[in-house]
Amino acid sequence: MPVLAIADGVFEVGAAHPERQLFDCLMPTPYGTTYNSYLVLGKEKTALIDAVDPEKISVLLKNLRDAGVDHIDYLVCLHTEQDHSGGNAELLRRFPQAEVVATTKVRDLLATHVHQDPAKVRVFAEGEKLDLGGRTLEFMPIPFAHWPDNTMVWLEEEKILFSTDLFGSHYSTNKAFSTSSSQLQLAAKSYYAEIMMPFRSHIAKYTAKARSLQPRMIAPAHGPVWYDPELILSKYEQWTGDSVKKRISIPYVSMHDSTRSMVEHLTIKLSQRGISVICHDLGSAPESLTIETGHFINDLVDAAAVVFAVPTLLGGPHPAAVYAAVSASAMKPKAPYLGLIGSYGWGSRMPEVMEGLLTGFKSERLPVFQVKGLPTESELEALTEYADNLADKVLALPNLAR
Ligand code: FEO
Repeated sequence: MPVLAIADGVFEVGAAHPERQLFDCLMPTPYGTTYNSYLVLGKEKTALIDAVDPEKISVLLKNLRDAGVDHIDYLVCLHTEQDHSGGNAELLRRFPQAEVVATTKVRDLLATHVHQDPAKVRVFAEGEKLDLGGRTLEFMPIPFAHWPDNTMVWLEEEKILFSTDLFGSHYSTNKAFSTSSSQLQLAAKSYYAEIMMPFRSHIAKYTAKARSLQPRMIAPAHGPVWYDPELILSKYEQWTGDSVKKRISIPYVSMHDSTRSMVEHLTIKLSQRGISVICHDLGSAPESLTIETGHFINDLVDAAAVVFAVPTLLGGPHPAAVYAAVSASAMKPKAPYLGLIGSYGWGSRMPEVMEGLLTGFKSERLPVFQVKGLPTESELEALTEYADNLADKVLALPNLAR
């Protein structure tokens, strides 16, 4: 990623990582990602906002050379996670005079996570400003977006909000102005789902704070700068709100097609009621579990219901469903309804085990629907009733988005 001027005296100097296809050993990143680092030139002082992932520190150092930077006064650390702070040590070896500035939370976590000496960190509290000479960076902590230490800084003179992970996207592109692309919108939604959704009420508050500043642009720690902040602010308002879509997500596993036949029947019956259904086959191919679970988690941003379709293996739920359930539950989805269906061979503790894994869902539970072996005609009729009952509930939701 080359040096990119985003405003007068403000440059994006971070690194792209297009080949990275998985984040946190969990989240599929088909468009790669970027680790954004911003250079802000004041009349007297120069600040660098965040370093990059240690794997890409050489790119940041090259970009700083290309930008003619031979002196940095401040390294402003907005968040400790290593994709931003992991390159600090090498950066500070190259620019030893740079003073690290951060909130107390970032300072404390830098000490434990990258062994940075806390005595050498200058602490800024909420509302305090770092004066660069004609340019000031105001500190705005946003705890739990998504770590306790996340901090935004506001460059009042240019009306730029440096938003740390908030409003980010795992999206690597050479195109400077691409913020309205549908790919980026999907990447931003996926990023929200897996990083921000578990903290939905906090994120709603921070989105309102960001809007109240009326930023000219929002510069996150991942993905492109939002040159039209309305694009991402309006999406975040929608995602963090209570409304859901007329959509049901069905993650499923099927070893011998019995559970699959239930999924197919349910899908057809729900579709006939005008409800869109997204099915995720968690076991279709060796690598499908991580990828399909990632897509499933994206559905959780605005699905009206989730129905896990789970066969029984060795008396309990199939392990692929366990992986998806644990991952989804951690995201604290807002889906109003949750169901469990599936086929078993001779006995099953699937419902009890799954229920114990799904505590992050505060959803109303539908009655468990299990069959022994291949569903019979009368069991499929009962499943039609199940579908109708679920469709009635979804269509009656007061917060159903059009
Ligand atoms: Fe991009 Fe929370 O690190």
